Amino acid sequence: MVASTVRSRAERWSLAGATALVTGGSKGIGHAIVEELAGFGARVHTCARNAAELEEARRRWAEKGLVVTVSVCDVAIRADREKLMATVSELFGNKLDVLVNNAGQSLFKPAAECTDEDFSRVMATNLESCFHLCQLAHPLLQAGGNGGSIVHISSIAGFIGLPALAVYSMTKGAMNQLTRSLAAEWARDGIRVNCVAPGGVKTDISSDKTIDPELVKKEMARLPMGRIAEPEEVASMVAFLCMPAASYMTGQVICIDGGRTIT
Ligand SMILES: NC(=O)c1ccc[n+]([C@@H]2O[C@H](COP(=O)([O-])OP(=O)(O)OC[C@H]3O[C@@H](n4cnc5c(N)ncnc54)[C@H](OP(=O)(O)O)[C@@H]3O)[C@@H](O)[C@H]2O)c1
Repeated sequence: MVASTVRSRAERWSLAGATALVTGGSKGIGHAIVEELAGFGARVHTCARNAAELEEARRRWAEKGLVVTVSVCDVAIRADREKLMATVSELFGNKLDVLVNNAGQSLFKPAAECTDEDFSRVMATNLESCFHLCQLAHPLLQAGGNGGSIVHISSIAGFIGLPALAVYSMTKGAMNQLTRSLAAEWARDGIRVNCVAPGGVKTDISSDKTIDPELVKKEMARLPMGRIAEPEEVASMVAFLCMPAASYMTGQVICIDGGRTIT
């Protein structure tokens, strides 16, 4: 892995020439991450399940002159993940510089009421996909030659106890630990692994009608900054973690939460 000090400042704060896979980029945080990485010069591939929304996003990016390709994939399905990585491998010449495991789903439901199906779906979408995509990306990230970077999008729910979020929070806590485990194991392969744990962010997930309004009220009351984040405020940290500027940073879980976890 190249030390950032051997590069110029302009090279350290750039993703020019890099290639990236961002899962779940058709909306929300993933959409902002795609734009941020592409804006810093990366060629980005993204995926989601809804083909129409994905195509609409691709069209908007093309209008802005951003280099983004898309394909439909349900990250909860093993065969879809294999197909996704085969597509990426073909697009980027059997190499990859950046993997962002962003696609995820929430589940606001009391633990005692969660079904087997709820449990399996959230585990497969948020956690199993994350682990398996890292496995699939490993040879491509090694082949990149410039030092690969993986960023997981977990949540502050992986640190603190929130009611009606047990299964979701388990997946996010495990992603935090996976970050440290893979960082230790893959550092010698030239791959850095970090994680961004957002608090509330303005997306479809945070406006889910199944969230208890009382919980939202209580959460807002103990949020030092008194507002939830814009997706771009998460994307900027992801971009930094992928840049040569972060070349000595690995195994870290960074909260972007307006101070929620310090109260
Ligand atoms: N918003 C928050 O307050 C918040 C807070 C902490 C952490 N997070 C985390 O941030 C990440 C992004 O969340 P968001 O708020 O941006 O959600 P969002 O607005 O609902 O967007 C989720 C994106 O992921 C895709 N996706 C969902 N399930 C998928 C699947 N099985 N396969 C492929 N793509 C899938 C969606 O497209 P399709 O539906 O078309 O598949 C969409 O592009 C998640 O991991 C979430 O847990 C969010």
